[in-house]
Amino acid sequence: MKKGFAIAIDGPGGVGKSTAARLVAQELGMAYIDTGAMYRAVALYQIENGINMYNDEKLERSLKDIALEIVNDGGVQKILLNGRDVTDLIRTQEVSEGASVVAANLRVREKLVAQQKQMAAAGRVVMDGRDIGTHVLPWAQIKIYLDAPPEIRAQRRVLELEEKGQPEDYKHIYAGIVARDKRDRSRKHNPLIQAEDAVYLSTAQNESPKDTARDIVNIYEERGY
Ligand code: DC
Repeated sequence: MKKGFAIAIDGPGGVGKSTAARLVAQELGMAYIDTGAMYRAVALYQIENGINMYNDEKLERSLKDIALEIVNDGGVQKILLNGRDVTDLIRTQEVSEGASVVAANLRVREKLVAQQKQMAAAGRVVMDGRDIGTHVLPWAQIKIYLDAPPEIRAQRRVLELEEKGQPEDYKHIYAGIVARDKRDRSRKHNPLIQAEDAVYLSTAQNESPKDTARDIVNIYEERGY
């Protein structure tokens, strides 16, 4: 497959990947692809259709009925599930949990990874996820691994939800983050790990997504792309 130019950003949930990736894409005039949204849409399909996603056979059988599309709507990524815009529906706690369950299934990964590789071929993309630098785009010219301890990610998430008028208990959010981390890091197929050639950036010291995006743009410029 023809290769384009890619910046791969991986890291655990709630570390600020999406916002930073979107800013980098904007700044450098590249397309932004949030691969987590695809796993979320697969989970939403299971929930909406009453399918037991813990049952691999049932989950795998449903795949032929799922078509995903990522479209750019004035700089904002939208995800379509069988032609329907589900961008907002995939942001619930239930879907977050489900996404990490379906993401452990090899057939699900094969389907989504094939589509992700195709989207990145020959274009200029910033792609974020868990396995982008290690598996989806091992050829990416720039690889970033973003990290922060679960306590900090949970605190930020609680603040975010509070600002949205959806107060949540810290302990509950923290437990969800730890459970998802564990599943994403310990699954058999393409678990979350830092690629050998990735630059490690921490967002633990209160770095805002803006700071992170600036660091990434600096790497791009320093390397003379
Ligand atoms: O980044 P996110 O929270 O939207 O991702 C949702 C889930 O999808 C997450 O638990 C792990 C999974 N995922 C994955 O396995 N591989 C990716 N490239 C992106 C997300």
